[in-house]
Amino acid sequence: MPSSRTRRSFVALSLFVLTIVMVPVKGFRFTAAGRRTLSALSSSASTPPASPPSLVNYITAGPQQYVTAPMVAQSDFAFRQLTRNHGATLTYTQMLHARNFVSSKSFRSDNYDFNTEMEGLKYGNPPLIAQIAGDDVGYMTEAATILSESGVDGIDINLGCPQAIAKKGNYGAFLLPQTDITTEIVKSIKRNVPNTPLTAKIRIQEKIEDTLMIARKLEEAGVEMLTVHGRTVKENKTLTKQANWDAIREVVRHLEIPVIANGGIETPQDVEAILARTSAVGCMSSEALLENPSLYDFDNALPMDCPSRVFLDRQVKLCKEYIELAKLFPPVGNGRFGGHSAVKAHVFKMLYTAFSNPKFQDLRNKLGHKKTYRIDQTEEIVNNLEARLKIATDEEIQFPSTFSWYRRHRQPLVVQPVINKNAAKAEINMRLQTLKERRMKRMNSLT
Ligand SMILES: Cc1cc2nc3c(=O)[nH]c(=O)nc-3n(C[C@H](O)[C@H](O)[C@H](O)COP(=O)(O)O)c2cc1C
Repeated sequence: MPSSRTRRSFVALSLFVLTIVMVPVKGFRFTAAGRRTLSALSSSASTPPASPPSLVNYITAGPQQYVTAPMVAQSDFAFRQLTRNHGATLTYTQMLHARNFVSSKSFRSDNYDFNTEMEGLKYGNPPLIAQIAGDDVGYMTEAATILSESGVDGIDINLGCPQAIAKKGNYGAFLLPQTDITTEIVKSIKRNVPNTPLTAKIRIQEKIEDTLMIARKLEEAGVEMLTVHGRTVKENKTLTKQANWDAIREVVRHLEIPVIANGGIETPQDVEAILARTSAVGCMSSEALLENPSLYDFDNALPMDCPSRVFLDRQVKLCKEYIELAKLFPPVGNGRFGGHSAVKAHVFKMLYTAFSNPKFQDLRNKLGHKKTYRIDQTEEIVNNLEARLKIATDEEIQFPSTFSWYRRHRQPLVVQPVINKNAAKAEINMRLQTLKERRMKRMNSLT
């Protein structure tokens, strides 16, 4: 067995290579949480020496994971990197339809943008999981094979999509209860792609027993990590409700594999509350991160009641950081705007509060216009907003602190209490320890 010194040298070398790779990328910084996780791994006795940590080792080495959700047309590399710059420790690609991914080269180049030099544990970067969807065992297995060969850290099966297109295609949340098919898919991927961890993302069922039964079947079939979105398939679009964190907690308690909690996180306080309430090893956010990509940057979090100007200035700054990244790494895409439709959608969400002010309606319209299809045009709109915010009075740009893109269709969400912070932290740490011990046992039994 190589010594711990050899292991440390490997990690140091990886970080050195990483630094060289990162130098030309403006705005990149290794996140504190990412650093903590990697250093935890480098000192862990169970870390396989001279090889990068596997996804599951990374997840369970702790501390908790802060996850950027898979999002169709919004999980471009530039956005993933933006959230990493502000504390995200694990990110996903958007959902990739397995049949299209396997059979169409142009689908792959328009939808898949894994950045091998900047993402993935192989180079000491926070990991990337590629998400696939479909009900055909052959296509799912082949898509997983191609993605594994491209070097992603994990493959995730989408078993939570509630959209009509998923119903029509029999995938996502509609496939979830068909456990004979999901089990077959999981087993086939495990058999054919044994070296890339397999995970799944599910929604809860109406009844907790059904949720637990489905989750257990996925675990037994070989899924190595599960994300649970605490809403049912019906709780979608305008019917979206506060997520059921207690149901997620039940899944955490009943499974042996790590569980990520998803749904209803709006603020940094919610991040703390969902981890405390569920004891999950991490939490995943989607819509709140789209509006505030610095959700996980706890050191610089703004209070809910901060002055509107302070909030808007932060939003413009984030937007400009995103645009710089998107200039260096233009999002892939097809259609009228190509990848620029992703840029426009991100800018719109980050600046939703500003654009909702009639004073800036012209800029909102300009962003939405079909003639805005290049990054320099979008950048000009953001610069224009920044200049106009500077000369506006505080009164002119005032908006209620409860107003946000996240809440656009919803009742004001309940502020989630953090019940007993220390007890919650102790429970999460205990769970991480148990997961580590189980993993070591499994590794020992393999050698
Ligand atoms: C624009 C958008 C695209 C999404 N695309 C996906 C996807 O590709 N795969 C997936 O599993 N979930 C997808 N989701 C669902 C989110 O990953 C997440 O489960 C859901 O939004 C709940 O989290 P939240 O309450 O933090 O928003 C998407 C959500 C949004 C808003």
